[in-house]
Amino acid sequence: MNPDTAPQTFVRWLRSAAPYIHAHRNRTFVVSFGGEALTDGRFAELVHDFALLHSLGVGLVLVHGTRPQVERRLRSRGAELRYHQGLRITDATGLECVQEAAGAVRVEIEALLSMGAANSPMAGARIRVASGNFVVAKPLGVRDGVDFGYTGEVRRVDAGAMRRLLDEGSVVLVSPLGYSPTGEIFNLSAEEVATAVAGALGADKLLLLMEQPCAGPDGRMIHQITVQEAERLLERGGSLEPGVAAHLAAALKACRSGVARAHLLDRHIDGALLLELFTRDGVGTLVSANPFEELRPARINDVVGILDLIRPLEQTGALVNRSRERLETEIEDYVVIERDGLIVGCAALHPFPAESVGEFACLALHPEYRGESRGERLLEFIEQRARKLGLARLFALTTQAMQWFRERGFEPASLTDLPAQRRASYSPERNSQVLIKTIRPCEVPRKS
Ligand SMILES: CC(C)(COP(=O)(O)OP(=O)(O)OC[C@H]1O[C@@H](n2cnc3c(N)ncnc32)[C@H](O)[C@@H]1OP(=O)(O)O)[C@@H](O)C(=O)NCCC(=O)NCCS
Repeated sequence: MNPDTAPQTFVRWLRSAAPYIHAHRNRTFVVSFGGEALTDGRFAELVHDFALLHSLGVGLVLVHGTRPQVERRLRSRGAELRYHQGLRITDATGLECVQEAAGAVRVEIEALLSMGAANSPMAGARIRVASGNFVVAKPLGVRDGVDFGYTGEVRRVDAGAMRRLLDEGSVVLVSPLGYSPTGEIFNLSAEEVATAVAGALGADKLLLLMEQPCAGPDGRMIHQITVQEAERLLERGGSLEPGVAAHLAAALKACRSGVARAHLLDRHIDGALLLELFTRDGVGTLVSANPFEELRPARINDVVGILDLIRPLEQTGALVNRSRERLETEIEDYVVIERDGLIVGCAALHPFPAESVGEFACLALHPEYRGESRGERLLEFIEQRARKLGLARLFALTTQAMQWFRERGFEPASLTDLPAQRRASYSPERNSQVLIKTIRPCEVPRKS
């Protein structure tokens, strides 16, 4: 059969998305979008993408804006939105329009998320939407002699209430309104609310849908940027589109308040959210507090990611089968390479201290991330760990990567060179080849 026929393409695509599906399950994502998203006739598609994320086990908080809806209402009353130094001023008429607009937008989103017609992408979705008085706000007050009226800023977020709703399986919907303990209502910016909510919830991701791509001062799209780089870019000022600068600042703030990753996405790209979350390189701009990719000791919640990585290699015989229980017990022996939440590489060091030797095991890289020295970096890390443990040699058992080890200083050896305990568990059916490498001891600093 032609491998490029549609069903095969689909199967390949779905398989390639599987690790991301696992990586995102049970995570909390906050997504914000402007009121513009509701005005161009394609909003239902975006809502279907929200529903899909929800059905894949993502805890979803949606924060919507209302700007065009408010402006329309103001115009119909012969008024307009006023600004001072880029901040909105909300008078009594403005607040009335904000309340109306927020109510209308919320109802529209709730209606779309309630759809379930058999012939629609929402068939069987049955999504519960929860909204409420989650945001406590205070007035901006008078600044430079200008009274900002009912324009407010976030004072705190009731993360506990939101968490309970998310745990019950609801999608949480938040409007850009805040309430004061004295019962007043304040007009807030959707980005500020989204940032505060993501920080208060300790969300795994903040996804900001924007009206344009996140382009740098040279006009070229920024694919990834660390918090420090984003800070420098914003400090330079003036070189970024105001919309981009505002969203980048919101992403920065979220990362500083503990959100691991913020993504800036051009909402005009059809399926931008799905492309960003389920494809290797995404379509947006990733702002991350930590480096985009890191090599680190494994933790117990990496087990699922490691299993995803090694299962296909077990099927080809490149790696021996490992049960989930075994991995959980031995997790402290493992190191992983994590790239944007996805485990793309792993290796383990099983020490046999009595014989002063360690097994370099379970070396695996995701097929899309091979050939860029990650295998070598894993080996270096394991060698360092072995030295710290005072081990003198590393051995490896391999069926398909003999040459890879030979090129990195391993020499062919025999079964008798293995520690007795390991020899006992050697599987003759696999007929793995044994390789050994002598490692230099740790350099001990000389006494002065
Ligand atoms: C073996 C493996 C970890 C290497 O990862 P990697 O990131 O490609 O490694 P590096 O970038 O450090 O090295 C790449 C080099 O190794 C070579 N290489 C990769 N796999 C090899 C193999 N099985 N045998 C021989 N050489 C191999 C590549 O061709 C490349 O060499 P080149 O640049 O001269 O063409 C990876 O291919 C893998 O996961 N393989 C499947 C699992 C496996 O066999 N693990 C070993 C179990 S003991």
